[in-house]
Amino acid sequence: MEFKITSGHLKNARTKAVTTFLFKEQKKFPPEIQGLDNELDGAISQLKKELKFDGSEGKLLVVPTFGKGKTDFVILIGAGSKKNFHLDKARRLGAIAAKKAKELKIDRFLIDGETLAVKDSQPEIAQALTEGIILGSYKFDKYLSKKDEFKIKEVQIRVARRYRAEAEESSRTGKILAEAQNFTRDLVNEPGNVINPQKLAEIAEELAKQYGFEVKIYDEEEIEKMGMNAYLAVARGSGNPPRFIHLTYRPKKAKKEIALIGKGLTFDSGGLNIKPGDYMRWMKADKSGACAVLGIFKAIGELKPDVAVHGIIAAAENMPDGKAYRPDDIIKAKNGTTIEIGNTDAEGRLTLADALCYASELKPDAIIDMATLTGACVVALGEYTAGVMGNNQKFINEVLEVSEKTGEWMWQLPFNDMLREHIKAPHADVYNIGTTRYGGAITAGLFLEKFVDKKIPWVHIDIAGPAHNTRGWYYHPKGGTGFPVRTITTLLMKKAEE
Ligand code: BES
Ligand code: MN
Ligand code: ZN
Repeated sequence: MEFKITSGHLKNARTKAVTTFLFKEQKKFPPEIQGLDNELDGAISQLKKELKFDGSEGKLLVVPTFGKGKTDFVILIGAGSKKNFHLDKARRLGAIAAKKAKELKIDRFLIDGETLAVKDSQPEIAQALTEGIILGSYKFDKYLSKKDEFKIKEVQIRVARRYRAEAEESSRTGKILAEAQNFTRDLVNEPGNVINPQKLAEIAEELAKQYGFEVKIYDEEEIEKMGMNAYLAVARGSGNPPRFIHLTYRPKKAKKEIALIGKGLTFDSGGLNIKPGDYMRWMKADKSGACAVLGIFKAIGELKPDVAVHGIIAAAENMPDGKAYRPDDIIKAKNGTTIEIGNTDAEGRLTLADALCYASELKPDAIIDMATLTGACVVALGEYTAGVMGNNQKFINEVLEVSEKTGEWMWQLPFNDMLREHIKAPHADVYNIGTTRYGGAITAGLFLEKFVDKKIPWVHIDIAGPAHNTRGWYYHPKGGTGFPVRTITTLLMKKAEE
């Protein structure tokens, strides 16, 4: 899909369809649409009246031109109320436009960014539309014998002439971010029989080759030598051996160094505390954090920000087996902390514990981990919002601030000393579950805290809800969403500018 930034009157557009927007408050057409309507002898206003199109959010008015105009179609999309408009609506509307274009087999169209720039700048809108169109066109159809071969080839985004240069830049950024997010979605959607830890390592190696990253893959023996016994305990029940992945992006001018960790359970059956069938479905998506890290690396490989980035994944599969770890087992993590196992299904935090120790030893300026860690987080915040925790309020605020722009919803969950009591174990330094199920997302976060160097600002993002979805929402189809690739990449770009 190619994106071009254009200016000029809508009625002069040279493409197959013009898509533009009408807000609810606009009882009369703005001049641009009026111009089009005149060209079509009032066809737009007539259809608008007959079909009672009133600019309600997401409503469509498809007007065929029957050879009268320069394009085959004019498509009016309701933008809702101007008052309630925000940047993420541009993504949603972009996705709606792309879906309609696909349906009508329109492979080239123009989309009117200028109209939507009521609160945000035109370059920001151009980026959001680009993202929405790419994200909204995504489909995981790799394994379908019969695929829909239709592809949108070219999208023109219209902005005022004076914003063109800036919009070209921001649309390019949006394209990279959305394509990286789609790359993450592809990986999340791959089932456990295709992506196992070794395969995940190979994908990281391919990325490294493509973009010139450093990469080191540790096998079981090396993982054991490094003392990552918590991680190894989780991996022991699977016939697919673990792989510890460390990618590094090290640009010459980097002043800051950030470590990203992604939970990489290529499948989570629960282990000996096996999940009931309904809860085991979608556990191929328990590698979403890892896939996000890989998507972020794809994006920074293209965008080349001046910030050094580590990508760390302790990939494993959690399976029940004669060799599997058990409830009541006591294991020692890389930093010497002993852990008593309360439940083998609380495995993600064990793999992350050793990964956080490893990351801390690199002495980065900050650590971010992304993990489909707890069902409790989904209960607390719903499926669409990630839980954010950490040891540094300023850093947490920075992440939350960026997420407001990217439309990836995040909300902070508060640590407290009472819940810290809940992960005290009878026979070891810490339990891998809380003594009650209440506040389960927070007790998981507090567990992770024990493995982070206190001097390093650290943010934990529990993406158990938004990383995948069984129905799809806004510009997300069902399956992997690629959450939070855009937020973290944008944050890294911000860090590069500081
Ligand atoms: N991978 C799951 C968490 C999860 C649940 C992700 C639902 C996505 C959707 C995690 O490993 C897990 O099983 N957590 C347990 C922890 C419990 C045993 C303390 C949970 O949330 O039930
Ligand atoms: Mn689990
Ligand atoms: Zn899990």
